[in-house]
Amino acid sequence: MATLLQPSPHSKLIDEILALKEKRNAVILAHNYQIPEIQDIADFVGDSLGLSRQAAKTSAETIVFCGVHFMAETASIVCPDKKVLIPDPEAGCSLADTINAEQLREWKHKYPDAIVVSYVNTTAEVKAESDYCCTSTNAVNVVNSIPKDKEILFLPDIFLGAYVQSKTKRKMHLWPGECHVHAKLDPQTVLGLIDKYPDAEFLIHPECGCVTNCMYLVEEGKIPQKGTYILSTEGMVRHAKQSPANEFVVATETGILHRLKKENPQKNFIPASENAVCQYMKMITVEKLHRSLTDLVYEVKVPKEIADRARVPIERMLAIS
Ligand code: 13P
Ligand code: SF4
Repeated sequence: MATLLQPSPHSKLIDEILALKEKRNAVILAHNYQIPEIQDIADFVGDSLGLSRQAAKTSAETIVFCGVHFMAETASIVCPDKKVLIPDPEAGCSLADTINAEQLREWKHKYPDAIVVSYVNTTAEVKAESDYCCTSTNAVNVVNSIPKDKEILFLPDIFLGAYVQSKTKRKMHLWPGECHVHAKLDPQTVLGLIDKYPDAEFLIHPECGCVTNCMYLVEEGKIPQKGTYILSTEGMVRHAKQSPANEFVVATETGILHRLKKENPQKNFIPASENAVCQYMKMITVEKLHRSLTDLVYEVKVPKEIADRARVPIERMLAIS
């Protein structure tokens, strides 16, 4: 039986959003974890690095950031002359919340000669105290660009840090932060799925709690090396497209499945956990996006003194990757 396509319950709001976008000379950027309708309205959907790059090069006057707060802050830092809006200012990040600027200053005090590499999932104040930023796409390259004799403080994600440590063979000091969604994607979850889906490729985000164990199991030959990939969200999208495999187990936030399925309708994507849902990413709705463009809310503006300092590590990262 043919499936009848249901019109979106939001089709009127979506038409209005598209008209408002023209009127405001705005661009809509959406992270890969956003709800499907938001991804479909957006001008650009991507990972943290791709979204920072899009923000840096847009000619639009207004950027509406459908993602979480640190991402909108990063856009505001790289484009201080543009209006950056987030449809819900409460869309935070449990990982970014694991370290504040005061804690970082205390850590730096203990290691005064160390270079600070901060994952982009940090507040502007933390970035302002950092030497380099990185995302999951370029963390290995960023660390490799730092002279070997330098000590490194890596923050805030301990699983990404351990992964980078193992890839670069560099011992780093790791901040014990974690993302509440990815930390739960542990080795038991992934090992159970290997038996269930023996022909599938495994796409694992480096923030996952299973990442170091999976690398160890690959080295031990307990997980097939050929089918296991540790990738950023955009890396997963790229890999799924060019891989000859037809089945993939995806260990990250489930929002990515919309894009993976949309761009590869003939392939099968299985979430490592249906519960891997980031409630902050899901706070952005079509109604809130509509309101954002109607009332030009909520503006994210980083104070100039902090933005000027935070721009340095972000630009260093953009130059490396
Ligand atoms: P990506 O940069 O891989 O999109 O990851 C961002 C993020 O918040 C992961 O939880
Ligand atoms: Fe932050 Fe985790 Fe949500 Fe990504 S998935 S935005 S790291 S809380």
